[in-house]
Amino acid sequence: MLETSFLTAPEHVAIIMDGNGRWAKQRGLPRTMGHRRAVETVRQTVRTAGDLGIKYLTLFAFSSENWRRPEAEVSDLLGLLKAFIRSDLAELHRQNVRIRVIGDRVNLRSDILKLLLEAEETTRANTALTLVIAFNYGSRDEIARAMMSLAKDVEEGRLRAHDITPALIEARLDTAGIPDPDLIIRTSGEERLSNFLLWQAAYSEFVFLPEFWPDFSRELFLSALEKFALRDRRFGGLSAQAAAVNT
Ligand code: IPE
Ligand code: IPE
Ligand code: MG
Repeated sequence: MLETSFLTAPEHVAIIMDGNGRWAKQRGLPRTMGHRRAVETVRQTVRTAGDLGIKYLTLFAFSSENWRRPEAEVSDLLGLLKAFIRSDLAELHRQNVRIRVIGDRVNLRSDILKLLLEAEETTRANTALTLVIAFNYGSRDEIARAMMSLAKDVEEGRLRAHDITPALIEARLDTAGIPDPDLIIRTSGEERLSNFLLWQAAYSEFVFLPEFWPDFSRELFLSALEKFALRDRRFGGLSAQAAAVNT
């Protein structure tokens, strides 16, 4: 196990959990077995994030574009999410984890919506790790919904177009109140955002790992944090000023 004491944990880590299908294929298994194993990796990752004192962990669970997959796979993924919340909500609550869900809730199946709302409601007052589940999430959709809500305020005379600022836009995003991710990790060797947190990633650091999500381990998590710790974040300023700019 890697030494962790020298690491300052980032406040917010977001993960694009990719490669379940390829993990399964490599073993001659159906894709669904990759998704099943992925759930165990999620459990372990949430525990590690909590242990390390990370305050926010965002997990990309299902994108607004993932509906394009075959119906059987979509239904399998929805089933796994439901099963995960049913089986793990009590334990997450016990761990003092607060759950937030981002993504479009309109037109979601009512059984899923009910479970997501229950998870948020049950854990609302918890104060350890905030686990942000990105479900039916797409950044362009999120931004379009935020713009719609601002436009409505302008239309109805509550807001002047001139007064729109980045802070006002942020407050209408699904992530309102959640700090921007410091570190975004993507597994499976793909090096793209796939419509994840486009606005919020303005100054995020990226770590792309070749391993598939079911193989993501505590050690790989720690090695990504080590890479992050070596990065010089400048936020457009100069090195010595970076910390000041960040506050
Ligand atoms: C990530 O694994 C899970 C979701 C996108 C829901 P994939 O299912 O995308 O696996 P690959 O990328 O096809 O290997
Ligand atoms: C991104 O992975 C979405 C999730 C991890 C939930 P995808 O597998 O859907 O991304 P693309 O299609 O390879 O870009
Ligand atoms: Mg994929």
